[in-house]
Amino acid sequence: MKIIVKTTAEEASKEAFELIQKEMEKGAKVLGLATGSTPVKLYDIMRKSAVDFSGMTAINLDEYTGLSADDPNSYHAFMKEQLFNAKPFKKSYIPDGMADEAKECAHYEEIIKENPIDVQILGIGTNGHIGFNEPGTAFDSKTQKVALLQATIDANKRFFEREEDVPRFAYSMGIQTILCAKKIILLAFGKQKAEAVQKALEGPVTEAMPASVLQRHPNVIVILDEDAATLL
Ligand code: GLP
Repeated sequence: MKIIVKTTAEEASKEAFELIQKEMEKGAKVLGLATGSTPVKLYDIMRKSAVDFSGMTAINLDEYTGLSADDPNSYHAFMKEQLFNAKPFKKSYIPDGMADEAKECAHYEEIIKENPIDVQILGIGTNGHIGFNEPGTAFDSKTQKVALLQATIDANKRFFEREEDVPRFAYSMGIQTILCAKKIILLAFGKQKAEAVQKALEGPVTEAMPASVLQRHPNVIVILDEDAATLL
């Protein structure tokens, strides 16, 4: 695991962008993408860049259940606004939050099998979740319907008008699914992530801290700002 600490989130996002570019030059064709506030700067840099993503496939980690693709709070809408409207990909996949659970989860696994992820961008929840895999999720989990913990609902309610509007469930790539990516870039910014980052990178590998599983992946680059690295 390689850990890079940059002074600001802006510089860290630039570093992530350069890494993605390098991987594309080496032949990467499939990017695994994340939502949340962490990758927003990276997507801003991607949008403003001259890089052509029209030959690339994008596969997102997760989507809230019960929100249709055109719901402004859906991750479909988020990705369009943050990236896809400005930089169209050849194909982009995000779980369909309105689709039948068993069918959608199996279908998503098929998509990932057919399009192995070259570079997966990951954020981390304050409780250590990756994707929407909350503490306690099995390391051998595949794409599934997950219940969000109150901590995650609280952390994400800022995107919604009222807390009651935050969906309680999501479809998320499983931990095993995420680990299939050839390379993983974990981004974390801000003091509120410092504890999760420390536990994930230096603590025991345990299902109680989902991101700690990354210690077992052979090709992980962690890019932090100084605040997120304060407890390392
Ligand atoms: C969200 C997403 C994750 C994201 C994490 C951190 O709930 N499902 O993919 O990495 O929580 O979010 P943020 O980047 O807004 O801190």
